[in-house]
Order: sequence, then structure tokens, then C-alpha cells
Amino acid sequence: MRAIGLMSGTSADGIDAALVEISGTQADLQVTLLAGKTYPYLPKLRSQILEVCAGKAISMAEFAKLDEAIAREFARAALAIQKNRETADIIGSHGQTVYHRPRDGQTKLGYSLQLGRGDTIAHLTGLPTVSNFRAADLAAGGEGAPLVSRIDACLLSHPQYGSCVQNIGGIGNLTYLPPHDGHDAFEKVVGWDTGPGNSLLDLAVHHLSEGKQTYDRNGEWAARGMPHVDLVERWMQHPYFAQSPPKSTGRELFGWAFFQRCRADATAKNLSPADFLATLTELTAASIVYSYRQFLPQMPDRVLLCGGGSCNAYLRHRLQVRLGEIDLLTTDEVGLNSQFKEAIAFAVLAYWRTIGIPGNLPSVTGANQAVLLGDLSRLAT
Ligand SMILES: Nc1ncnc2c1ncn2[C@@H]1O[C@H](COP(=O)(O)OP(=O)(O)OP(=O)(O)O)[C@@H](O)[C@H]1O
Ligand SMILES: [Mg+2]
Repeated sequence: MRAIGLMSGTSADGIDAALVEISGTQADLQVTLLAGKTYPYLPKLRSQILEVCAGKAISMAEFAKLDEAIAREFARAALAIQKNRETADIIGSHGQTVYHRPRDGQTKLGYSLQLGRGDTIAHLTGLPTVSNFRAADLAAGGEGAPLVSRIDACLLSHPQYGSCVQNIGGIGNLTYLPPHDGHDAFEKVVGWDTGPGNSLLDLAVHHLSEGKQTYDRNGEWAARGMPHVDLVERWMQHPYFAQSPPKSTGRELFGWAFFQRCRADATAKNLSPADFLATLTELTAASIVYSYRQFLPQMPDRVLLCGGGSCNAYLRHRLQVRLGEIDLLTTDEVGLNSQFKEAIAFAVLAYWRTIGIPGNLPSVTGANQAVLLGDLSRLAT
């Protein structure tokens, strides 16, 4: 099957589109990336999304407009990625998360809202579209995230090596894959959101550059500074880091409000802009490695990075320092495109939805069962 995966994560930087050819089911799953491209949001739409994520109140009419605008951009990305190519059979669209509430003692059920409705995308593209992937896992008592772990297990498990597949988007998430002997690729797979990835860094760069830059390209700015160890320790006191998995998070915890707190701390310590960025980068590195030491049954033999943060050389350096002897690679080095891996995953989840294979891994999301993920929208032909 030829499928398009569409993803815009917590960075809200743009829509990652992946056109893939998929065959097999799970252990024999094969995915070939035919094309991958990021379609950045226009700055106005991006700021509207970020404002809503930061808690801005909007009317239902504004909400509807935003939802439609996002669906249109997703449909445009799907049409663009398959231009001059054979048409795809299906679209898997994650949509744009604007709100994520994990389970807690009170709510019991989590809630997660992605904008960009599947029906609109199906209508504008003429292709069956699977969307709203998180709802079924949430209804089964899961976190609704991370949802890529079953795919990671199918594509990246290794007979000898234990691997951490670490995505660094706005938020970081990991799938731990123990060495597997070919029996059950999902046994003992665990995963969770590690905390901030690029979200705080991007906010800081936007602020420090007075809106001229949106991210720290290759980590060059942060690399000119020094992390402030005491502040990293202070920020690591945030209760999310000590919370046991299954767990998930979003910009609600590590977005605008947390950034304001970091900025106030940095100002009180007289940190230079470069030192501030180095300290925020260190928080990302520290929170990732801390969660491995705290919650994994054993440290991995290798860490496979993906997502935009894997392009940040300074962050990679700081991760390597904290990981010591453990190999730090990108998923590209084991044959899976690191920049489009999450988009590829939603193409696979759409494919699984149509052939009746559950998409979530209860050992990762905490759901009480494996369930089919996503709502299928299709046009009557
Ligand atoms: N060359 C680079 N150097 C440093 N950081 C980069 C580079 N390229 C991308 N990034 C960072 O990666 C972010 C985008 O990453 P990505 O698209 O993987 O995250 P996301 O949209 O939150 O998606 P997801 O939720 O799927 O992880 C950018 O906002 C930026 O901070
Ligand atoms: Mg992105």
C-alpha cells in the first residue's frame, strides 16, 4: 500500500509529510520512504497555534476557523508530496495537537485534542484519511502517547542490542527495545515522554533574537555558552521527571509558563543569552538520560536519535557526555529516516487501521488493551 503520513508535533514548526510504500504486517513490516518534505506553517498560523497551546481563550467561531485552516494546510501538504508521483491509497494524519491532558489520579482518563479534521482532508485530497489517532488509546485508559512504539519495535529491534529510540521534537519521547530473540518483538518494550525536547529552547531563541530566529541552528548559539548546573538541578525538581511511566506530557507543562520561570531564574543569575541556551539544552539532555537511569530495566547499548533535535550538534554532544560509553547514533544510520520517522509512523498506523492491526502498545501508553487507532474518513465514490 502507498500511504502518506502527516505530522505536526509540539514544535508546531510545520507539517512533516512522508510518502511511503508499505508491505507486510508487523514482524515483516517493510517501509520504503519515497518522498519526505516539511511544509512550514505560515508565521501567522504558527503564532495562532502557539497562542492557543499557551492557553489563550478563543471563541468557538475562531476555533472552527483554526481547525479548518490547519486541515487545509495538511491537505495541501498531502497533495504536494504526491505531485507528479503515483497517487497514494491512504493518508494518516496526526493533525496538530493544541491540548494534551495526561491521566492523573483525578481524571483517570486523559484527553488530547488534535486539529485538522480528517473528513476535510479526505474531501480536499480525495483520499481516504485516518485521523484522531490518540482517542481510542485514551478511551482505553492510556496516555494516548507515545504512539510510535509498536512501529519502532517492528522496524528497529535488534537481536543483540538493547536500543533507546529517542525522538527529540518539541517534547522528547522514547521507545526502549530490549534485544529480542525473534519471538515476541513487543515483550518488555517500554516508552514514555521524557519531557522537554526543543520546546523551551525554541521559545528562548525566539525571545532572545526578538523574533528573528525560531530555533538554535545546530546548537551553535548554546555551544558558545556554559550550562548553569544549579539551575539544571533546580528545573529537574519538576515533579514530571520523578513520575513513574506510563507518562506523557506537552506544552502544557513544558511550554510558555515553564519558560517564563526559566527566564526569571536565568535573569536572577545574570546568565548571558548563550549560557541560558546552554542551560536549557542541558535540561533536555539531563532529563532524557535521567529517565533512562531511573526507569529502564537496564541502560541501552545504543541510543537512536530522531526528530529535529537530532540535528542539534551541541545537544548531541551533551547527551553523549551524559551517556558515556553508550553509542549515540541517528536512526538514519540504521536505515530509517530520522527527520520523517514520526510522519512515517502515522502512515503505518493508517495502514494498520485499514488491515485491522492495533496501533498502541499498552506497555507504553498504559492502556488496558491494544486497540485499533484512528477514525477513517472516506468519500463515497
Ligand atoms: N538543524 C537544526 N539544529 C537544531 N535544532 C533543529 C534543527 N532542525 C530542527 N531543529 C529543531 O527541531 C524542531 C522541530 O522538530 P520536529 O519537527 O521533529 O518536532 P515536532 O514538530 O515537535 O514533532 P514531533 O512531535 O513529531 O516530535 C525545531 O523546532 C527545532 O527546534
Ligand atoms: Mg515538526
